[in-house]
Amino acid sequence: MSLTINWAQCHTRPLLMIPGPTELPFPVIQAMNAPPSIQYDRSFDEVVLEPTTLALRDVFQTKNEVILMPGSGRTALEAGALSVIEPGDRVLVVGAGQFGLLMREIMNRLEADWTEFPVEWGARLDMARLKREAERIRPKAITLVHNETSTGTTYPAAEVGTIARSVGALFLLDTVSSIAGIDVRTDEWGVDLNMTGSQKCLAAPLGLALVAVSPRAWEVMERRSKPARSFAYDLLRWREWWVPVSRGGKVPDGAPRRQPVSMPTHLTAAMNVAVRLILEEGLSHRFRRHEVAATALRRGVAAMGIEMFPDPSIVSNTVSCLKVPKSIDPAAVVTQMRDRYGILIGTGLDKMRTTTLRIGTMGVTASPPYVLPTLSALELALRDLGYKSEPGAGVAAAQAAFADLG
Ligand SMILES: Cc1ncc(COP(=O)(O)O)c(C=O)c1O
Repeated sequence: MSLTINWAQCHTRPLLMIPGPTELPFPVIQAMNAPPSIQYDRSFDEVVLEPTTLALRDVFQTKNEVILMPGSGRTALEAGALSVIEPGDRVLVVGAGQFGLLMREIMNRLEADWTEFPVEWGARLDMARLKREAERIRPKAITLVHNETSTGTTYPAAEVGTIARSVGALFLLDTVSSIAGIDVRTDEWGVDLNMTGSQKCLAAPLGLALVAVSPRAWEVMERRSKPARSFAYDLLRWREWWVPVSRGGKVPDGAPRRQPVSMPTHLTAAMNVAVRLILEEGLSHRFRRHEVAATALRRGVAAMGIEMFPDPSIVSNTVSCLKVPKSIDPAAVVTQMRDRYGILIGTGLDKMRTTTLRIGTMGVTASPPYVLPTLSALELALRDLGYKSEPGAGVAAAQAAFADLG
């Protein structure tokens, strides 16, 4: 009797090769296996929360204050934007994909006078045109998504930072899918609000928003004509209620202080361990690991006869966006890979949902024991769906890349 084997049957959960949330290192999971602590208790605040935010400065490559809040990447984007932008403020929003457009929507809600700088999805940014537009508009802020998760592209944030500085604009950078996987130099690039979430390359659980705030951004918040319209996500309250005077805040050093929103203690403890692991690995090693893992994945995909979506000069090392062979439905590939082979990848988003697939190489998953099985499962799933390619070609090409580049 012939029996079709369901290889995922013996697994209790799919392996997460989606572009976030991503797999967690075991010590990060263990950090959450504890009874609740009290968020306003001094020991939590001083022994867990504060050291975590201070250590995060090294990950963000900044001397700025890093604020940690309950939420996700979107919370960080919205908190950052609503803290510095007032109704009528001019904002230039670079829109190179689904997440660039998210900032446009946030600016809309804030009644900012926003202008979109549209970029063809997957294409390079025309820096000369952006500079001209910034000089014409003279915005209060320029926003950019460093790593566009919808298209698998990385944009030159350093250069956009230079343009922002040249027109006196704040530089608001979404690093949700780049921080801790791709080099992000907050201070060197003049990033005023570096906004991200916990669940991607930081390899911490979903549930925390992070914003690194520059002195310029604090000044803009101090000079607002009216307080920000949100109570929970007004960043200025962190400076007033929580940051000590010695670090530029308003709380006398050593005096009791309050967090403006109650911090999720388990998630903070997990982030504490995640940051320690990142710094123990070292940033340059970590960035190189993501680069090699993504290169191996790309070579594997190419060996299967599949093309990448973006311009090759701006492909991301944390999210790979692939063009699905004609006549194959991306959603069917995702389902087959998950249900039969136990590995979860993502379809494209929005207008690319029916033509592309996205695979994350983030945190621990940027390594051979995750990339090679993913290519294997992709090849088997495509085969199940009628796509013909040389069996093992993708895995072999990726394996060779790991051997050559690692
Ligand atoms: C570049 C980028 N920005 C913003 C977001 C939104 O973040 P979250 O889903 O954590 O709210 C995402 C999520 O994938 C993202 O990739």
